[in-house]
Order: sequence, then structure tokens, then C-alpha cells
Amino acid sequence: MLLYPRHLFLEPTFLAQGWQAWLPGDGPLNLEIGCGYGHFLSYMARRFPEQRFIGLDIINKILLQVDRRLQREGLDNACVCKLDAVVALRELFPSGSLANIYILFPDPWFKERRLKRRILRSETLPELLRVLKPGGCLHFVSDDADYAADALQLLEACSHLKAVPFPDLETRTKYERKWLEQDKTIHRYAYQLVDGPEPALWPGYDPRAAILIKDWDAEKALLFWQNFQPLKALNPNQVLKFLACYRSGESLLLKGLLADTGSLALEFWVEIDPQGQLTLAPHSCLPRLQNRARLLAELADLIQRGIPKGL
Ligand SMILES: C[S@@+](CC[C@H](N)C(=O)[O-])C[C@H]1O[C@@H](n2cnc3c(N)ncnc32)[C@H](O)[C@@H]1O
Repeated sequence: MLLYPRHLFLEPTFLAQGWQAWLPGDGPLNLEIGCGYGHFLSYMARRFPEQRFIGLDIINKILLQVDRRLQREGLDNACVCKLDAVVALRELFPSGSLANIYILFPDPWFKERRLKRRILRSETLPELLRVLKPGGCLHFVSDDADYAADALQLLEACSHLKAVPFPDLETRTKYERKWLEQDKTIHRYAYQLVDGPEPALWPGYDPRAAILIKDWDAEKALLFWQNFQPLKALNPNQVLKFLACYRSGESLLLKGLLADTGSLALEFWVEIDPQGQLTLAPHSCLPRLQNRARLLAELADLIQRGIPKGL
């Protein structure tokens, strides 16, 4: 099964039950970040039929191939999902929900200014640890000596992790085969979480949750729409922008973009009804499952600040 952000952020069964909606059962949940052509994912799903596997990647073409492979092999304990890892980690997994995370041959991003795109770096480690259950393992494999050295330093310095032997999984990913043919050294690390947050349940979300914009009335709505200027909010981890505002009957529709440091921007739409209730538009996909209420409050605040002075 190939899941897109829309399925994850808007599908009522997913919002209500989380991964249970797509991968039923109580087998351990495992995540592969950057699953590429899915050799590892399908091998693991075959080898451990009682476990559940999610493969994340951002490239449609290869995800479609993995999906076909999973279907061909009848592997319904695995699915692939198109989403940036940074967003996915934070939005799709409650604390302590994953038994294993696999990061195999991640892009090393050689240029200095691109280092923030690395999947394993000091900013992403806390989220990786948060989603692992105590006793769960983080696996990292790379042919890139610099990335491997940085990763090792980071993992070694973390007091919540201890090094464990890398499991012998008798499978080689596409990149692994390529680098082995070229006699490259492969660095493999496995670290176990020795403590961690209490595992949390999927919180369950109401997609129509609303927040009231203070002092909103029909006249203000009209003026806001007529005078709309792009709105932008910045914090150290995130840029939030409203790019356009449209009328839809008595309501307003705002088109926005949300980008976290080192991740791809996601488009979203919100609706403001004539009473000033701000909701996620029905056809939109808005990330931030984990902190939806806070994000709605931030959006409302940004819109309030965008109301032209004197209205
Ligand atoms: C070098 S390939 C390795 C693929 C596979 N693990 C293997 O060993 O054959 C890196 C993969 O990570 C994916 N990727 C890169 N950045 C990502 C991100 N932020 N979130 C999810 N996947 C990402 C890429 O699309 C690519 O498929």
C-alpha cells in the first residue's frame, strides 16, 4: 500500500487509529527511512511476517515500484509512505511506538550548506529517540566515511543509547550491492535505547477541530480578503507562510506552506467561516498531527496579526 500525506493527515480512520488503520495487529512496528527500491523493506516483511514495516521515501517513481513489489508478494504487513522523514517522525509516531528504525545508505549531502538535510544529525536525534520504544534499536549504515564518523560521534555521545551488535540480516540493498562491488568500506551501527519516554497511544484527532479568531466579523473578513498580503511567521525550526486568500461563499480559504528546517515544504489550506472559526479545509492536508492544537493557535495568531491595522 502506498500512502500519500493526504491519506495520513486527512483519512478519518488514520486520524482516529494511527498506523493500526493501515497495518492492523499488535506486531512490533518498524520504520525504514529512505527505503529506496524497497529491497530491505520487502525482505524484512517476508522474514518477519508477525511484525509491521513502514518504508518512507520522497520519490514517487520508486515508491510506486516498491508498492507493486509489496502487492506482488502479498506483503500486507508492510506499506510505503511518501513523506519527508523529519515531518513524518514528528507527526506520525507517538512516543515509544517503534521497535526499530533503519537508516540505510542515507544521502550524505556533501556540501556544507546541505548538511542540515541529513536524516541523522543532532537536530533529528531527539525525535528519533522519542519515537523509539525503550529497548528499541536505531540502525545506521553508510559507505560515506565522513557521514559515518559524524553519526558515530553523535550516537556515542548520547547517554540514552548503547552500542549493540549489528544484526545479520542477510540482505543487501541496491546501494549496498553497488558499494560492495566497488570494494567500499561499509560502516554499520546499531544502538539500543536504554531508557526513554513511556510509550504513548495514538492520540486520535478530530480533523474538524476549530479555533476561534478573536474579533472576527463579516466586515473584517471582507476587508482581510480585499487587503490580503502574504503572511509569514518564522521560528528557529520552522517557516509558516500564507500565500493566498480566496472567498468561498461566506467563508475565506487561505493557502499556506509549512516548512521545517531541513525538510520539504508542505502545502495546506485552512478555512475561516463567517463566525471566525478556523479549521483545516476539507480538501487540505495539514501536517503537525502531534501538535495540531498548537499549530492551529499559531495560524490563528498569524492571521490576526495580518488583519490590517484600524479594522
Ligand atoms: C542513497 S538512497 C538509499 C536507498 C536504500 N536505503 C538503499 O540502500 O538502496 C537514499 C534514499 O533516501 C531517500 N530520502 C532522501 N531524503 C529523504 C527524506 N528527507 N525523507 C525520506 N526519504 C529520503 C531518497 O529518496 C533515496 O531513495
